[in-house]
Amino acid sequence: MTLQADRIAAALNSLENRVGDPPDTALILGSGLGHLADMVTDPVAIPYEEIDGFPHATAPGHAGRLVLGRLGQARVAIAQGRLHLYEGWSARDVALPVYLLKALGARQLIVTNAAGGLNAIFEPGQVMLIDDHINFTGANPLAGPDEPSLGLRFPDMSRAYDPSLRALAMRTAEAEGITLRRGIYVGIAGPSLETSAERRFFASAGGDAIGMSTVLEVIAAAHAGLPVLGFSAITNVATGGPEQEPDTIEAVLANAAIAGESLGRLILRLFDGE
Ligand code: HPA
Repeated sequence: MTLQADRIAAALNSLENRVGDPPDTALILGSGLGHLADMVTDPVAIPYEEIDGFPHATAPGHAGRLVLGRLGQARVAIAQGRLHLYEGWSARDVALPVYLLKALGARQLIVTNAAGGLNAIFEPGQVMLIDDHINFTGANPLAGPDEPSLGLRFPDMSRAYDPSLRALAMRTAEAEGITLRRGIYVGIAGPSLETSAERRFFASAGGDAIGMSTVLEVIAAAHAGLPVLGFSAITNVATGGPEQEPDTIEAVLANAAIAGESLGRLILRLFDGE
């Protein structure tokens, strides 16, 4: 098994001379939210294919490139397009961008995703601040050789989503007049959506939103010592009740775009305040 540290070194090597000043903040953008990368000023975009040993994103709504530049005052590095277990990537592949973003110099990570609303009060098009998660993928990116140069063998996950970044997001949303839901994100492997019985089960277990990403990256971020702020774009009703419509990727992407509009404003304002 290739060590993550060796893969990161190879990726960094192939990026030499293409990255300018170190980023302050890293972002990983979810399905249908890639347009947030269009707000970057002075962008340098590097397709994943040009990064040595880097897996290529293939999911709908994921461009598959690294975008470096500025959002407001902040220097950012954005993974525009993420990797998922359901594409056949391993948990270690999925986590690799987190370590690369950290190696580029990022000091905090913002993750976004598209998610179904398990919580009946959530409406498609709304944004949820992720307070915590339940990893139901059955996978863990830290399974494998211990790599002390990257982090602890048994990282603490009790504050996986940074409390002060969450408080900042709440204050900023209020100041911007953006309705910000809060809750627990459940991560599953996919690619099939959940049955109605599974959705009721996850809701009764405390889940508020469900999707096929994020949890593995957040485990890697905890390992790497990167504070995380996470947002879900609620794209469909996933209550498992009779009110639920059959899900389509078209509706998911359309509602991700609606939520993405407020999320983009919120993220920009977060940087204004820095
Ligand atoms: N379930 C899982 N993943 C998703 C959903 C969902 O309902 N909506 C968007 N991504």
